[in-house]
Amino acid sequence: MKRVLTYGTYDLLHYGHIRLLKRAKELGDYLIVAISTDEFNAIKGKTAYHDYRTRKEMLEAVRYVDLVIPEETWEQKINDVKQYCVDVVVMGSDWAGNEKFEALRDYCEVVYLDRTEGISTTKIKKELNLKTPQKGINQLPE
Ligand code: CTP
Repeated sequence: MKRVLTYGTYDLLHYGHIRLLKRAKELGDYLIVAISTDEFNAIKGKTAYHDYRTRKEMLEAVRYVDLVIPEETWEQKINDVKQYCVDVVVMGSDWAGNEKFEALRDYCEVVYLDRTEGISTTKIKKELNLKTPQKGINQLPE
């Protein structure tokens, strides 16, 4: 069984995300998605609209995704690859050549896939923000 791992925040899930996940799954048999926790986003200076639990629940509903795990630090990647017996790490082309992923080549294959043009979480936020007030982080009901 070929195991694929990818990283991201996956906030306001959109078709660019779905197409990335579909192509990532096609590279193997089992797709793991490591998503940034709210605390890790804060370290990166980002605030997601949906909290970690909500983003995880939505990604778990995507047919290409087999497992969602937390991304809590920049340094965990080698450990993730070993712990989950990962064969391929996949990222969008915005990360191509980035040292954080290039360093994984000693442990697994690293593949960059083209991003889908014309869509991003940032773009959605910017455009919807023109019409709706910013409410901050949004959570699932208990
Ligand atoms: N992605 C993609 N095509 C897009 C947007 C994202 O292929 N149009 C990919 C990214 O390259 C990454 C994954 O989806 O591998 C998760 O990206 P993420 O950063 O969570 O989404 P973005 O929409 O890029 O978010 P932001 O605008 O906050 O950077």
